[in-house]
Amino acid sequence: MTETAEKKIEIAPSILSADFSNLEREVKAAQDAGADRMHCDVMDGHFVPNITFGPLVVEAVKKHVAIPLDVHLMITDPEKYIDAFCDAGSDILMFHAEAVENVGAVLQKIRKKGVRAGVTVNPDYPVELFLDHLEMIDQVLIMSVYAGFGGQKFITETMDKVKTVYNEAQKRGLAIDIEVDGGVNGETAGICAASGANVLVAGSYVFGTGEYQRRISILRENAQACRAQRA
Ligand code: DX5
Ligand code: ZN
Repeated sequence: MTETAEKKIEIAPSILSADFSNLEREVKAAQDAGADRMHCDVMDGHFVPNITFGPLVVEAVKKHVAIPLDVHLMITDPEKYIDAFCDAGSDILMFHAEAVENVGAVLQKIRKKGVRAGVTVNPDYPVELFLDHLEMIDQVLIMSVYAGFGGQKFITETMDKVKTVYNEAQKRGLAIDIEVDGGVNGETAGICAASGANVLVAGSYVFGTGEYQRRISILRENAQACRAQRA
């Protein structure tokens, strides 16, 4: 079995689909239901049309869960806000490569703060925007929908990028996490894992229901089963 394939499958519910009037209860419930991480979607109304929240909410979530915070910045000039999001308690901080001039410098800035550095691109941008920096990357996030909204349909073609990153990491002996975000459900979870992903974000599939534990288990079991078939 290969290095990346041995990584544990992790499920990261996105609070984007949670009930924000009860955020403490929601994040605790997801953690108790078996979530491995909490995915926090930061949108600025500029890089993407939608606006969500900033470091204050990340800090608030941090107070209520022990699992790592997986923070996805969908903002223009992410480098300006790295200190604020790291200080708010991000464990993994991800930015869009297409939003910055110098991918390497931003990765370095995140790592200097003692936070794991992640990078992503929208479906219409290539992974070549960051592949040269793979040695400095702790996690690659492959967007399987266009950033900006929850509840969109999974774009299967984006799995080619998961495979490219997976193969490249194997070739260079790098144990990076490969995460998929957008349209992940019981069925598409298997496609992600079979392509080489080990971390799955799920917003509406988990928080859109009253059955967090069952949904998280389905995602994990289907991902594990499809990965086993591939190995
Ligand atoms: C989309 C966000 C996702 C979103 C996923 O811009 O980055 O994290 O919450 O939502 P679902 O799982 O509903 O597609
Ligand atoms: Zn996200």
